[in-house]
Amino acid sequence: MTVIESPTPLSIDLDARYTLARAVAQQAGERALQMFRNRAALEVEHKGLQDFVSIADRDVEGIVRRAVSEAFPDDAFLGEESAAGVSATLSSERVVWVVDPIDGTSCFLNGLYAWCVSIGILVDGEPLIGVVFDPNSNELFHAARGRGAFVGETPLNASPSCHVREGLLGVGFSHRLKPEAFMPFLGRLLGDGGMFIRNGSGALMMAYVAAGRLIGYYEPHINAWDCLAGIVLVREAGGTVNDFLANDGLLRGNPIMAAGQALYPVLMTLVEGPGEQS
Ligand code: IPD
Ligand code: CA
Ligand code: CA
Repeated sequence: MTVIESPTPLSIDLDARYTLARAVAQQAGERALQMFRNRAALEVEHKGLQDFVSIADRDVEGIVRRAVSEAFPDDAFLGEESAAGVSATLSSERVVWVVDPIDGTSCFLNGLYAWCVSIGILVDGEPLIGVVFDPNSNELFHAARGRGAFVGETPLNASPSCHVREGLLGVGFSHRLKPEAFMPFLGRLLGDGGMFIRNGSGALMMAYVAAGRLIGYYEPHINAWDCLAGIVLVREAGGTVNDFLANDGLLRGNPIMAAGQALYPVLMTLVEGPGEQS
């Protein structure tokens, strides 16, 4: 058993949480897949512009929440579908499960396959465990700090690319921001011979960065439940990620940039633009 020693007398059993996160991601994903196959029966609600939710999202979040509270009743929980009710002091909890029950809801509701279950775990404010399960491909991406990143049992390595021409960049955009917050970056990426893909699931694209399938991922604003698991995956696969949790990123969201080590600074110059560089 691996425990994390901390200045307080209480130690955290990381192994047990890593095991549960993998098991419950698969269980929740299998339930989501059943609902996906019967999605015509789902009632869909509008949360905002291009932002939908169905009973599937809430049902699947409930599966994860119940499993966590049974096994670790003192752990805190931040799930996309119940985030509105969380306390502003959540960031000071020792262990926080950060969960998107279905990331890629638009794809899910429209019969597209880019969606997944995403579970990240923060311990004392540090992202230590990340699990992304894609039920359609039956791929379980998982990582724990210091132990590497894997899909199933296969180790993952982020891309060694050093130029945007060398592969596909995952991008994301939501109407939480104005298009002007995104378009200059896209123009500079294309101007340098790069190419983008937006598949509709930020969590899955972060997992693909860890797997070296994408050279990186950029989104000007994303929420913690979309990317916390992916942050652990990319770092453990040897990649670089920005300080997403700065300035209350856990509750307010932030930009995310994740890439192989060589490409990360190149992409940051594309975000900042020529006028901003020193
Ligand atoms: C969204 C997806 C999308 C990203 C958005 C997220 P949802 O989550 O991850 O790829 O661009 O920022 O809100 O609504 O499908 O769970
Ligand atoms: Ca999401
Ligand atoms: Ca979601």
